Amino acid sequence: MSNSMWGGRFSEGPAAIMEEINASIDFDRKLYRQDIEGSKAHAAMLAAQGIIGADDAEKIREGLDTILREIEDGSFKFSRALEDIHLNIESRLKELIGDAAGRLHTARSRNDQVATDFRLYVRDVIDGVDAALHELQVVLADKAFAHAGQVMPGFTHLQSAQPVTFGHHLLAYVEMIARDRGRFQDARKRLNENPLGAAALAGTSFPIDRFATSAALGFDRPTANSLDSVSDRDFAIETLSAASLCAIHLSRFAEEIVIWSSAQFRFVRLSDKFTTGSSIMPQKRNPDAAELVRAKTGRIIGAETALKIVMKGLPLAYQKDMQEDKEQAFDAFESLELVIAATTGMVRDLEPEAANLKKAAGSGFSTATDLADWLVRVAGLPFRDAHHVTGRIVAIAAERGVELNRMPLADMQAVHGAITDAVYSVLTVDKSVKSRTSYGGTSPKNVRAQAKRWQRALARE
Ligand code: ARG
Repeated sequence: MSNSMWGGRFSEGPAAIMEEINASIDFDRKLYRQDIEGSKAHAAMLAAQGIIGADDAEKIREGLDTILREIEDGSFKFSRALEDIHLNIESRLKELIGDAAGRLHTARSRNDQVATDFRLYVRDVIDGVDAALHELQVVLADKAFAHAGQVMPGFTHLQSAQPVTFGHHLLAYVEMIARDRGRFQDARKRLNENPLGAAALAGTSFPIDRFATSAALGFDRPTANSLDSVSDRDFAIETLSAASLCAIHLSRFAEEIVIWSSAQFRFVRLSDKFTTGSSIMPQKRNPDAAELVRAKTGRIIGAETALKIVMKGLPLAYQKDMQEDKEQAFDAFESLELVIAATTGMVRDLEPEAANLKKAAGSGFSTATDLADWLVRVAGLPFRDAHHVTGRIVAIAAERGVELNRMPLADMQAVHGAITDAVYSVLTVDKSVKSRTSYGGTSPKNVRAQAKRWQRALARE
């Protein structure tokens, strides 16, 4: 049997394998709410413009409400033969209200519907992600404030570089997430135009009012070109790109949590709620949540890449390839929501191990830069010379197995005569971080002020 929705010129039905490759209902059923919302707006507009009768519009509205209830209570029967969410709903509408259902599709196409539904869906995703990222920022800023003065090693090349504070490290992620949120908002602004009424590709001869449907669906305005309306998925790619970057940030943080919670580092303690045990090794507390945050980032980057590849060779206007825009994107957005929530939970429970952090902060000659800076400031050496002198002192300290603040003064003076015992005042980790008062630096005072600034700004939102 040919398709009941578009089968007029067909005498045979599709091959079973055709149905399988062609149907999108298994994944695009997620768009049911958006599809119904779009149809209601379209029907109301058609009636207001006198294109369909008010009684038909009323029947359509009631029928769509019934379908919404059926889908939400699980009684709706989805059919693969009806391909996608649009035809499933329209076909059920016909069963419910009869011929009036056939008037709904006046001056629109499934190409409009899918472009509209997907935009509405992505817009909801952005709003949900934004709220979740806001919460993560709040949790990070609170933790940063609480541990603004907690010293820890700062690394470059994963080698001890200079002491920083735990609060400063957490605030670095608050900044990254702020940029992520900005990218999502930028994408939202561009996607918030209404493609409904492109009528497949060319516009329509019916006197439709696309501004009315735009207002009803919360779009800022109708899209200006009917071909473009149905042909691009840049809004999804742009949002996936924002999602990838955000996931990359959370993945880097997750990687740090994995390292920090290892027995060799013991910088932080993860709560039982975000760790698992091993079935054979009783001592284990594995940071599975952090590992999965790191791993799920792959799916999100993959979805962005996949959609770019789907789109790159398509001529205008709609091509069926574009049906491949949704499945991986849905997965990516759900994964992102999950990794944000897991990260928020982990951070909320995360406890820095103060003594271990402080000890590690002072190891690896981490105050060597402070010594070099002291030689510049007090002894008037050019920085390059100070760097060299400090390097020689570090070499002696390394040979002896002592940290810089335990180096005898005489040994340092043997390298450079201008060194006095005043130098010890800059060689502890606390002094080191306290001195980093330049704008954006790690001094506890700065960190406290920045954390407060963030707490206030986030509370105002
Ligand atoms: N299921 C389709 C998709 O996801 C909807 C649009 C179909 N349009 C068409 N002309 N076959 O892209």
